Amino acid sequence: MQGLKTTNILFLMLILLSGCYYDSEEELYGTTECDAVDMSLANDILPILENDCYTCHSVTANFGNVTLEGYEKLLPYVNDGSLLGAIMHSGGYSPMPKGKAKLLDCEIEKIESWINSGALNN
Ligand code: HEC
Repeated sequence: MQGLKTTNILFLMLILLSGCYYDSEEELYGTTECDAVDMSLANDILPILENDCYTCHSVTANFGNVTLEGYEKLLPYVNDGSLLGAIMHSGGYSPMPKGKAKLLDCEIEKIESWINSGALNN
């Protein structure tokens, strides 16, 4: 009898502990911060553009006569504010990516950070 009780208590504690474990994991996930410091065009920005923009804005696609492939092609849209305006869905710009969900906040933050650091070809 005593042995059974101990087993039950241990079992209960296990359930409770695993409950706590999942709770804290969710919390950690929810508060994960966006690392948007020292962004590199090649490593941080291009992967986003490749995923969400190049179907329409590669050299060959060139939708809307907009090419974002290649630093020299990308820079004018950085400098006239339309790249950021489009992905932030700001008034006066065509919201991008067209027909798809807005980029993740962290992705927008990364692009903004790269632009604010001088939009280097890094
Ligand atoms: C499904 C095709 C498609 C995708 C995907 C797409 N675009 Fe566009 N984009 C267009 C078209 C077409 C235009 C021309 C304007 C219009 O028709 O809205 C355009 C215009 C633009 C412009 C000029 C906007 C302006 O108001 O001057 C920018 C900047 C731009 N896109 C950036 C992006 C970025 C950055 C992404 C990825 C996050 C992206 N686009 C994804 C089709 C697309």
